[in-house]
Amino acid sequence: MSKNFQILLVNGPNLNLLGQREPGHYGHQTLETIVDALRQQAEQAGATLSHVQSNHEGVLIDTIQQSEADFVIINPAAYTHTSVALRDALLGVAKPFIEVHLSNVHARESFRHTSYFSDVAIGVICGLGADGYRYALDAALAFLKRQASE
Ligand code: DQA
Repeated sequence: MSKNFQILLVNGPNLNLLGQREPGHYGHQTLETIVDALRQQAEQAGATLSHVQSNHEGVLIDTIQQSEADFVIINPAAYTHTSVALRDALLGVAKPFIEVHLSNVHARESFRHTSYFSDVAIGVICGLGADGYRYALDAALAFLKRQASE
């Protein structure tokens, strides 16, 4: 019998404002819409998705530390460019993860070109809007299936 993979989706500060926040960069979809669609996508693939969004670094770190998920999909938002602590949490639990950004951070201000996550991520998706989360989930499930069959 195949394993029911568990995916943890982590969204950082201000992503609770999606839908109203700078739609030119982040689109019109709310976070709730995005997460609902991802949960369905996971269920259809026989996986389970849990989600945390917080504006507080410690809450994100605690959730990562306590999670029993097999894989993390994370949009660290502004913490991408600042948080050694969040990077260390992901390394500390040694879970594979994909970094997602709605906007193309490389086409924006230079302070957004630096990420504390990219060099230790399985992969990075940016600039594809909310679809990026969908692609990340597909890639996460493919990664886990491959790993399980090795
Ligand atoms: C973001 C890009 C970050 O630079 C920014 O601080 C965010 C969102 C994105 O999804 O494009 O909050 O991670």
